[in-house]
Amino acid sequence: MGSLFESLLLRLASAEGVRPKLNTGNRVAQVVDCPPSMAARILDGKALAAAVRASVKETVARLAARGVRPGLAVILAGDNPASAVYVRNKARACEETGVRSEVHRYGADVTERALLDRIAALNADPGVHGILVQLPLPGRINARRVLEAVAPAKDIDGFHFENLGALVAGQSKLVPCTPAGVMRLIEHAGVTLAGRHAVVIGRSSIVGKPLALLLLQKDATVTICHSKTMELQKLTREADVLVAAVGRPKLVTAAMVKPGACVIDVGINRLPDGTLAGDVDFDAVKNVAGWITPVPGGVGPMTIALLLENCVRAASI
Ligand code: GUN
Repeated sequence: MGSLFESLLLRLASAEGVRPKLNTGNRVAQVVDCPPSMAARILDGKALAAAVRASVKETVARLAARGVRPGLAVILAGDNPASAVYVRNKARACEETGVRSEVHRYGADVTERALLDRIAALNADPGVHGILVQLPLPGRINARRVLEAVAPAKDIDGFHFENLGALVAGQSKLVPCTPAGVMRLIEHAGVTLAGRHAVVIGRSSIVGKPLALLLLQKDATVTICHSKTMELQKLTREADVLVAAVGRPKLVTAAMVKPGACVIDVGINRLPDGTLAGDVDFDAVKNVAGWITPVPGGVGPMTIALLLENCVRAASI
């Protein structure tokens, strides 16, 4: 009932071009950066990623004038089909921007020693500025030991403890690409973070935790939700910025979203019928949110663009 009332109030207010404050029972919800119509604005990650790649291309040209060509080495182990697609897309993006790329492929039976030896060689190679170990690695391999073998200055994924620690301390150099891409999308939308409530669903070391730190750096009040969180909907409905990064198709429904909120969907899930779906029920949530990212075409392309940006940054240092 409340949401119908809110929806009507928003429609009236937006028709008059004002930003309403909604009285929702015993709390007052501030609607943030609410666009003039109730259909959410689409945050086009494909277009923004193209702009980032264009800027990377310019940096590559400037580096070429100094005799430097950024080089990316990717390690792909095992036969995960999604990983193979991601790596192919990364190599293609490198080619488009002038970054040299090499892919080192291993079967699922690869030994940890072989991966560590390869990483040691890449660490010592002056033509390689960025090293990326595509995850997941085959189950027998200690992924953390492999990630720690990458020289921190070449760790363009930002997964090494040294880079994660620098992020915690607010001194980051190489930041994990997906969280960095999410921040760039929020910035592009012009959504203010200072003093606002950002809710991140998902606590992975690759996305949820680093993203929470980046949001905190921008003075948001941050809540991390996860599989043991109680009253998830109560928390998500308080979010001015809501990020879903759990890998559960359509987990976020319209009832979980505060009207006018900026909703970012990190999930890419393959449904039984072969189609892709995010962690957000896009068709329903787009009628409530102020901003929303599509899947595909939202966060995914940004991850690759930010990877290239990290690679040219590593080559510039
Ligand atoms: N697998 C899924 N996402 C990622 C990522 O961002 N980096 C790496 N290295 N592997 C992944």
